[in-house]
Formats: sequence, C-alpha cells, structure tokens
Amino acid sequence: MTAPGGYEERMVQPLYEREELATVTGGPLRPGGLELTRKLLDHSGLLPGDPVLDLGCGSGFSLELMTRAYNFVTIGMDPSSLLLDQAARRVPEANLLRATANALPCIDGFFAALVCECVLSLTGDIRQTVREMHRVLRTGGMVLLSDVYSFGKESTATFVRTGSCVDDTADLAAVTQTLDASGFEMLHFWECTDALKQLAGQIIFDYGSLAGFWNVVLGLSPGQCAFGCRQTGKKLGYYALIARKR
Ligand SMILES: C[S@@+](CC[C@H](N)C(=O)[O-])C[C@H]1O[C@@H](n2cnc3c(N)ncnc32)[C@H](O)[C@@H]1O
Repeated sequence: MTAPGGYEERMVQPLYEREELATVTGGPLRPGGLELTRKLLDHSGLLPGDPVLDLGCGSGFSLELMTRAYNFVTIGMDPSSLLLDQAARRVPEANLLRATANALPCIDGFFAALVCECVLSLTGDIRQTVREMHRVLRTGGMVLLSDVYSFGKESTATFVRTGSCVDDTADLAAVTQTLDASGFEMLHFWECTDALKQLAGQIIFDYGSLAGFWNVVLGLSPGQCAFGCRQTGKKLGYYALIARKR
C-alpha cells in the first residue's frame, strides 16, 4: 500500500511499529520521553490556540500533551495507519492525517510551529523535508526537532538495517546546514545523547543486551549484529533544537 508522498508499507515491520519498542519506552517511540517534548515546547514561546503540526506523530503521546496540556490547535500526521489508529484512540479529539513529510498536504504559511520528533532521519530526503517544513510555516514560525545523529566513520562491514531511526542518520553539520540553507535560524540547541543512553540502558535491563533486543526484533542469529557493534564504526548521539523561519 502506498500513502501520498510515496511512503510504502514495508514487508518487514519497522521498529517504531513494534510493540517491543512501545513497551520498553512506556511512552513516545523514541529517546527522551515527554520530558524532552516539554523542554522544547517550554522554550518555544508558543501560546494556547496556536496551530501546531506534529509531523510523524506516531502513537500520539506528544499530540495528547500539546492538545490537552498546552491547548494548541493540533494536527497529527503520520504515514503509518497502525500508529495513526493508536493516536486516534489516545486523542480522539485530535485532527489526524495520513501523509509523509516530503509532501505535506497543507497550505503555505499556516502553522505557528511544527514538532518533529525522531522522524527527520526516516524521511529519506532531509532537504525536501526541511523545504516542506519551511513552506507550511508562517514567517517567524518554528520547527521543534529531536533526532538521532551519527558521527565517526562508516565501515564496509555488514550493517543490518533495523527499520528504525538509526539506519540513515545524518551528522549534525548536515542537519544544521540544511536548516540554515533552507531559511531557518537556530534559536536553541541541546545535546541529548544521555537520553539515548538511557533508552539503551533500559533495553539492556529488559533484554540482557542490545544484541538480545535486536535478536528478538529482527530475528537475528547470534553473532550477527545491528548498530552499535564494533564492525560498523558508527557512533550515535541524540539532539534537540528549535529553529525559526526567517
Ligand atoms: C521513532 S517514531 C516517533 C514517533 C513520534 N514522533 C514520537 O515521538 O513518539 C517515527 C515516526 O515517523 C513516522 N514516519 C516514518 N517515515 C515517515 C515519513 N516519510 N514522513 C513522516 N513520518 C514518517 C513513523 O510512522 C513513526 O510514527
């Protein structure tokens, strides 16, 4: 099945649709939880009634927070019908749309802010996603972003794709330069790698090791490994930022 924007349902279920991830985080499908969302929102200067898009809203935890605690006029968008169903059950009053980040079904200059948590690394085309963000925001509107980033060299050793935010991470310079070149100015930046470490720690606590988790989720045999193992040379971090449309 193909959603508007070309997102295709995968044959292998991506990590963010797996119950194992929801169970291990106990909330949003990413590091940092709602604490990180609150930090972004509290630094945004947004006001009740402001129109806010949750791009890649997943199962709707942040959407619920923004709709009920911050009283924004919210729209949640996501290409996954499975996660949109969960969001609809969590926040029945929310406006939800099935769409992808690279082709937003929105008019120009409408939103005061756009929240995009652990999604940019999944869209396949950061530049096009950021262009779309810029288009649908009003002048002075803000993007509130958090995501995984990578650093260190990639090796040619086998790298098992996990169907998650860690597969196609960008380095920080690529993200910040794309924002700048697309007409955004940086207002706040936070290094949040501790949140990623905390999630990894919880996974180890629950599964005995990261490899144990991937074995269950990906059906890997012992000896194979996904990210985080020595062969890849790829190191991961997590960031959050607020940038304003010039
Ligand atoms: C790691 S989850 C994060 C979900 C949510 N933002 C949260 O904080 O719980 C990534 C989300 O991005 C969505 N996604 C994947 N590809 C996308 C795309 N091309 N455009 C928009 N969203 C996408 C997934 O369906 C999933 O809901």
